Amino acid sequence: MRVYDIILKKRRGHELSKDEIDSMINGFTRGDIPDYQMSAWLMAIFFQGMNVQETRDLTMAMALSGETVDLSCIQGVKVDKHSTGGVGDKTTLVLAPLVAAAGVPVAKMSGRGLGHTGGTLDKLESIPGFTVDLSKDEFVEAVNTVGIAVVGQTASVAPADKKLYALRDVTATVDSIPLIASSVCSKKLACGADAIVFDVKTGAGAFMKSEEDAFRLAELMVDIVKGAGRKGAAIVSNMSQPLGFAVGNSLEVREAIDTLRGAGPRDLTDLCLSLGSLMLVLGGKANDTEKARAILVNTLETGAALSKFADLVSVQGGDVEVARTPDNILPSARCLEAVPSLHSGYVSSIDAERIGVASMILGAGRKTKDDTIDPAAGIMVLKKIGHKVEQGEPLVMLHTNNWDTLEQAAQLVMSAYEISRDKPDVPRLITRVIEN
Ligand code: URA
Repeated sequence: MRVYDIILKKRRGHELSKDEIDSMINGFTRGDIPDYQMSAWLMAIFFQGMNVQETRDLTMAMALSGETVDLSCIQGVKVDKHSTGGVGDKTTLVLAPLVAAAGVPVAKMSGRGLGHTGGTLDKLESIPGFTVDLSKDEFVEAVNTVGIAVVGQTASVAPADKKLYALRDVTATVDSIPLIASSVCSKKLACGADAIVFDVKTGAGAFMKSEEDAFRLAELMVDIVKGAGRKGAAIVSNMSQPLGFAVGNSLEVREAIDTLRGAGPRDLTDLCLSLGSLMLVLGGKANDTEKARAILVNTLETGAALSKFADLVSVQGGDVEVARTPDNILPSARCLEAVPSLHSGYVSSIDAERIGVASMILGAGRKTKDDTIDPAAGIMVLKKIGHKVEQGEPLVMLHTNNWDTLEQAAQLVMSAYEISRDKPDVPRLITRVIEN
């Protein structure tokens, strides 16, 4: 079948066969199908959608477009986690050691941040000496000896997704449920985990603005990974304000360490315990999420989770003192500036995306993928939804090494906050849970 006919078939809303989807993905990966035809196909999918079978076929075509990682040399059930991206989302930094301390091996391949959301690799690299570039053998050895390692996903995993994502980014076709589900699941399946827990974010700071869409995406992704013979579970969590208080690489590492000490923000701790409970159940360490939660709380209380974090830092070359005295080890910014509230009242909403962009302007994120980031830059959120605030009282503290960025970031932060006279309801953090 000609590429033209496959585009037309989808534009008319018909179901595509596995062969047709394979030929589009393989042809595009090889470079035989030009960007303009692929863009037209993506737009047809955006408007006409795909059914579950088509989305599964698209996922598998992308998963098999490059290298697939074989983790069978790591003992135990390998459970991975994927978040659809949020502002201040440092869950992996807490969750990976938390779950590993409970005996589930964590062999994690993560990404870098782009735009207003940060990436786990950038956060970990703010620890002096920490490297995310382990060879395959070093990676496997680390997981087999200390039960945990976090590395960068190699370019050869799901190359079709990489090319497609770049095209979706410039053709307004990112926020399509079948395209997001296939993109996320193809990478996770290619990376070899036995079980995957998804954290689908919803709200102003997320791809999925509505909870219903987030739930559909979560259900679809669980369905896809189960169809591929793995286990899956998901949480839909609210991203209508930053998670925790810290936004920016070393600030988030510090907050993650506090959380592993049992002294972290309530929302972050709760989310990590909920995601971790699902991971423990999928990993066969507990029969239900209640028992799993009790095990995880115990690893926090005994210090086992923090000690597992220290193991992770040590095995990947970082300064292990960071787990004990983070303030002495992590880079900190030279310029700090408070952003005051213009009114008295209660914080009624915070546009998480604007906080993320402000943090990027301060140096914490990349506008383009070749930008360098400042590990010390970021924002400490001092007031969250429901907090009382007086006029002139600081809403956030900006951290940067570049004075010139302060004014623009401060304006953006001010525009992100809404202050009301009445105390608002605080949005629930976890709105849905899908168990395997
Ligand atoms: N994250 C991904 O990996 N892919 C998408 O399409 C959206 C978010």
